[in-house]
Amino acid sequence: MQTKQLKLDPERIDGELIAEAAEVIRRGCLVVFPTETVYGLGADATNEDAVKDIFRAKGRPGDNPLIIHVASPDEAAKYTETCELYYRIAEAFMPGPITVILPSRDNIPLATRAGLPTVAVRCPENKIARALISAAGVPIAAPSANLSGSPSPTSFKHVVDDMNGRCDVIIDGGDCDFGLESTIVKIDGDGAVTLLRPGRITVGDLESIGITVRVADAVVDKLGEGEVALSPGMKYRHYAPGAELILLEGSREACARYIKGVGKERVALISHTDDVEYYKGELPTVIIYDFGLRGDMAAQAHRLFSILRSADKEDFDLILAPLPEKDGIGLALYNRMIRAAAHKIIRL
Ligand code: TXA
Ligand code: MG
Repeated sequence: MQTKQLKLDPERIDGELIAEAAEVIRRGCLVVFPTETVYGLGADATNEDAVKDIFRAKGRPGDNPLIIHVASPDEAAKYTETCELYYRIAEAFMPGPITVILPSRDNIPLATRAGLPTVAVRCPENKIARALISAAGVPIAAPSANLSGSPSPTSFKHVVDDMNGRCDVIIDGGDCDFGLESTIVKIDGDGAVTLLRPGRITVGDLESIGITVRVADAVVDKLGEGEVALSPGMKYRHYAPGAELILLEGSREACARYIKGVGKERVALISHTDDVEYYKGELPTVIIYDFGLRGDMAAQAHRLFSILRSADKEDFDLILAPLPEKDGIGLALYNRMIRAAAHKIIRL
């Protein structure tokens, strides 16, 4: 398949190019577009055949449902049964990096929601994404635009690596602001929400508007044998680099000692900026990736998938990384990193 690439400046959006991409969506074809979290692989969410092509292009299992992207929070009511709590969340955080699971209406085909009675709705804040959804006039179903099992794409180059030749259009909108996927919450009957996937909108953010948040076990722990995931995506090993990835908890001295004794040839270390010089001195043969300052969770979120993709190309025997703290945005990093590491953590 021939993939057309369209370059758009989010600050000066070219209406003609948006109209062209929107027409491709309306025709039932696939368009990759930027969002503030990661790039999405989009198709008309109401068109069953188009949605099936998304699953095919990604190699995604058909039992893992998609998020539908709407141009304004109010549009959710056309496709889902909204409720008071939805509007409170929308008022505070939309457009923005949050996805809400609501009961679906019949106009969203079962293929989009993998046969579930619910559907995930998100109103992104990225200007290109919003222009595209508005111009298309239909909700856009979009998973992250990576091949199933590799890290979500946060730059145009990542998208081209995974999706060139597998979709009709790729919009180049530069790097994604945040770099990790949206926060996902499910609205529970009792006025609380369950956090299914942590992201830039944190537990604290939700609590600050008076919402009670339960964190689903699978966010921080491994699912037990036979346990049912509240969100089908939680049961898949995601974001997995080819090399073994192990998370280390301990002082930099303890980490350096551990790495010296690890007995592997090609080792990479993801290090906080604060420790890069120290590790370079202690571990001259180890390749070091700069993760951002220890306290700068936004920088780390922005770099994580990019680092994992770069490391993947190098054929390392082992990749080591610091175990993140679980508070604030750290919970999103923790969630992605323990899954990429298949829960391998060493406490030194
Ligand atoms: O930031 C994001 O959310 C990006 C951008 C493109 O919007 N999209 C994204 O989509 O990360 P995806 O498909 O890679 O992840 C969606 C997650 C999956 O884990 C899926 O299982 C879950 O949302 N999900 C979708 N519909 C659901 C539903 N009805 N109930 C529970 N979980 C659902
Ligand atoms: Mg994904």
